[in-house]
Amino acid sequence: MAFIPRSFITTPIFYVNAKPHIGHLYTVILGDAAHRWSVITGAKNPVYACGTDEHGAKVYRVAREMGMSPEMFCRRATAKFQHMLAAANINNDKFICTTSPAHQQTVYQLWDRLEQNGFIYRGSYEGWYSVNDEAFYSSDDVTTNDAGVKVSVETNNPVEWTIEDNYKFRLSNMEERLLQWASQPDAIIPKMSREMVLSWINQGLKDLSISRPSSRVPWGIPTPHNTNQTVYVWFDALCNYLTVAKQPFTNQLSSSLWPHVVHLVGKDILRFHAVYWPAFLMAADLAPPKRVVSHAHWTVGKVKMSKSLGNVVDPITILDQYGVDAVRYFFLKDGRLEDDSDFTENRITSLLNTELADNLGNMLNRVTGVKVNPSQTYPPFHIDLFPLNATSSPQCRAGSEDYELLNTMNNLTDEVSKLYNDFKFGMAITKIMECVQQGNAFLQRHQPWVLIKQPEEQPWLDTVLHTALECVRLCCVLLYPIVPQSMTEVRHRLGLLTDITTQDLQCRLNRTFINPGSEHIPGASTKLNSCSKLLFKKFDI
Ligand code: ME8
Ligand code: MG
Repeated sequence: MAFIPRSFITTPIFYVNAKPHIGHLYTVILGDAAHRWSVITGAKNPVYACGTDEHGAKVYRVAREMGMSPEMFCRRATAKFQHMLAAANINNDKFICTTSPAHQQTVYQLWDRLEQNGFIYRGSYEGWYSVNDEAFYSSDDVTTNDAGVKVSVETNNPVEWTIEDNYKFRLSNMEERLLQWASQPDAIIPKMSREMVLSWINQGLKDLSISRPSSRVPWGIPTPHNTNQTVYVWFDALCNYLTVAKQPFTNQLSSSLWPHVVHLVGKDILRFHAVYWPAFLMAADLAPPKRVVSHAHWTVGKVKMSKSLGNVVDPITILDQYGVDAVRYFFLKDGRLEDDSDFTENRITSLLNTELADNLGNMLNRVTGVKVNPSQTYPPFHIDLFPLNATSSPQCRAGSEDYELLNTMNNLTDEVSKLYNDFKFGMAITKIMECVQQGNAFLQRHQPWVLIKQPEEQPWLDTVLHTALECVRLCCVLLYPIVPQSMTEVRHRLGLLTDITTQDLQCRLNRTFINPGSEHIPGASTKLNSCSKLLFKKFDI
């Protein structure tokens, strides 16, 4: 199995001008699943970082409208994002705000390095600027909408004609090095995003403004040697990844984090992360990111979310209503890197009811029920009744479909691992749920509820239950990154009281738990635990 030896995963730091929405929620859940996967596959000191982007004209404007100081406004707004992380059971190790003093120091270090290397010069900008996007646009990027307003072609957000002095970065000098970096198949996924980045670079890159006059943007970090200019909010924001990668006290980049960083970003900010950011880093003699993962967007009822349409879904409301794991399951099952997905509440409930409750919950209840397992202990596996290599032994009770289940269980971790490492969570979940379905069919074929009535069938009943319990155990370990809270409860029900380790990732049929004459798994009890509440309660529609 190809385990990731190091893992440093970041999400974008979110603008605090507006409340969290389901796009933000999706990104942090996706990163959390990837991070939890790194943890259970034994990555060395894995780190997951999230945060908020607090500076810039956009945030300043909204704070003013609310009649608050920008500082006060940011504290309140950032608290809302932190609340969302807690409500979604996000296990982030770091949370960064760009107003922190440590961050300002990082911004100055990178700026100074670029200046020393001759990449910064005083220049001027004449063109379009969108405060909404905090982005500079050339005339080709701008169009006139139906209302006669000049807007960005890509985002539809209004733009303003802007003439100003600022500091510029020699992006045009970085084309060759960027091409080299972006040509590696793994540098940017999915492939269509990598191809888009390559085409942007091939079209030619213009130098980029990295500061704005402080008269226009008073809320931000002043440029190092000139307080008449404010560091461009995207230069400021991208530096957050270096700030969180620094060792405490020494102010040095931690070698276990940099350059192992994987940036998770929405497709809307690919250019910033896959062109500008690696260019800044390489120009400062730092390693570019190991990987940039770009994901598609969520629509609501097939329409783009927007404040003016009033279709922005509040993450806290849906987490409260459906429960954290139903929401996480839905986003990870339906979200894609390439294509947009649609958010509907019906889909959350139907996935909860059919996949978590009917498929997984049903199997769990069947194998742990007192009717088939009155002693509530782990039954032994009789290898002569289910030889692990198909044989024609006269005692063998297992048929070809049972061997198909065995085969699925033996290969499941490898298959899921490949998909998780490529951020194909939806496909991985499908694989795991297919295994659960095969497990349910296995129980249907062998009917432990009938076997229990025939005392001479005890060894075969034990073997059937043991196999099914192992199927549930394995699937739950693999689903842990997706729905950690429920899977922790299932493990408790199964008598597994320790944290998941790499040992738990293998199918351990005939070696699971305590079996006479076989391996003892540390932390495993011979007893099932009772469960006070119903896992995967179905949602009434
Ligand atoms: O861009 N579907 O912050 P932001 C899925 N501060 N994800 C979505 C989405 C949607 N409809 N809409 C937004 C910024 N997102 C900058 C980032 S990083 C150095 C600075 C997610 O608050 C997606 O991850 O506008 C997107 O990249 C991010 O929210 C943008 O958040
Ligand atoms: Mg945005």
